[in-house]
Amino acid sequence: MKRYVIVGAGMRGYYMFGKRIATDAYKNHASIEGIYDVNSIRAREFAKDCGGFPVYDDFDKMLEEVKPDYVIVTTVDCYHHEYIIKALEAGCDVISEKPMTIDAEKCNAILEAEKKSGKQVQVTFNMRFMPYMQRVKQLIQEGLVGETLSIDLEWHLDTRHGADYFRRWHRYMEKSGGLLLHKSTHHFDIVNWWLDSYPEEVSAFGTRRFYGPTRDERGERCLTCDYKDSCEYYWDIEDGDDPFYKRFYFEAEKEDGYIRDSCVFDEKINIYDSMAVQVKYKNDALLTYSLIAHSPYEGWRATINGTQGRLEIGEVYSGHGSESKNNTIRYYNRKGELIHYTIPKASGSHGGGDDKLIRMLVKNDLADDMGCQASSMDGAMSLLIGAAANISIRDKKVVSIESLLKRP
Ligand SMILES: NC(=O)c1ccc[n+]([C@@H]2O[C@H](COP(=O)([O-])OP(=O)(O)OC[C@H]3O[C@@H](n4cnc5c(N)ncnc54)[C@H](O)[C@@H]3O)[C@@H](O)[C@H]2O)c1
Repeated sequence: MKRYVIVGAGMRGYYMFGKRIATDAYKNHASIEGIYDVNSIRAREFAKDCGGFPVYDDFDKMLEEVKPDYVIVTTVDCYHHEYIIKALEAGCDVISEKPMTIDAEKCNAILEAEKKSGKQVQVTFNMRFMPYMQRVKQLIQEGLVGETLSIDLEWHLDTRHGADYFRRWHRYMEKSGGLLLHKSTHHFDIVNWWLDSYPEEVSAFGTRRFYGPTRDERGERCLTCDYKDSCEYYWDIEDGDDPFYKRFYFEAEKEDGYIRDSCVFDEKINIYDSMAVQVKYKNDALLTYSLIAHSPYEGWRATINGTQGRLEIGEVYSGHGSESKNNTIRYYNRKGELIHYTIPKASGSHGGGDDKLIRMLVKNDLADDMGCQASSMDGAMSLLIGAAANISIRDKKVVSIESLLKRP
């Protein structure tokens, strides 16, 4: 039986770890022995629903008293490194939500602490566990496209999901590293994993022209806004569809001032909403990547181009096309043929990835033939693409990954 503590009592910690580990499926494998969050109201609500474990008002005290095997880190991104390093120094293994951290300095500090401690950091890249992503990896591994020469990946967040990043802490570079860290870390990791290579050089552009102070009709937050009846981005935190938001955020905001429904047109927003990135890999493959946070529908599209042909893949998550029960892979070979592969869509959160991921992390009873468990170096290599892209946008230059990584 492994003993866990959690730091970060928000939505991800609750649904991905707290609620799942509390079910019968895990009762003989894991127990959560404590939780810490800067917001004690949220931490208490979390503990109440997930097994009634103790709520701590001090992270160090929790480690000292519980002496857990694992620390699960599900806080705001910019604080991950603080808890990861403390946990390693206390002799614990760490499960960190993505991104492992938000810049090169914090990343190097984590890698150094991990090396010194002899303990391990795992990063939860649930996309690696999605059957569709796995089938693509398998076809590449089998040599279907020959040597992979380039990948084009376009990711589009819609104005429901995408807009939500502009309502809360993700809207500040200093908290999330921007969407090239917070969101794209998933996408960069999947490309690193498909290519079985690490990035070498990065260049990027980023703009913010959709959210931020792009209209005069704006307020501080939806709850008190004068334009509630006319704004298409109005979101009801108090009486909306999901009572979780009222209970965990609105009713807890008096303690830490975390406002969950801030205006997406706020002038304080400082992250980009349209981003374009180029990456050259160590194996000479090239990636052309774009992310937008204001699409009319949500999804992604990619092509994988190799010496033996080309794969065309993608998925629509919201809007026209999202109702399809299958995903497809279109393979164009060098003989002029088009071959279709069909992969049934998996049920469950994040394309079925979350259930498989937690099973592998906690029960460890599934073979990891495809290398889905991500190490700290995998975490570093995806976040450093985002960190390099942020530097490239700021300084208008190509950034080498090696220059960011402090090798021990
Ligand atoms: N893998 C995925 O698909 C996925 C999905 C969503 C979120 N996440 C990740 O999970 C993490 C949490 O995201 P979320 O959506 O639950 O956010 P959230 O805002 O709901 O929760 C974050 C929690 O961290 C707490 N916190 C803030 N500052 C802290 C500090 N200094 N020390 C301790 N706790 C602090 C907040 O009070 C809050 O309870 C993030 O790192 C995010 O990137 C991953």
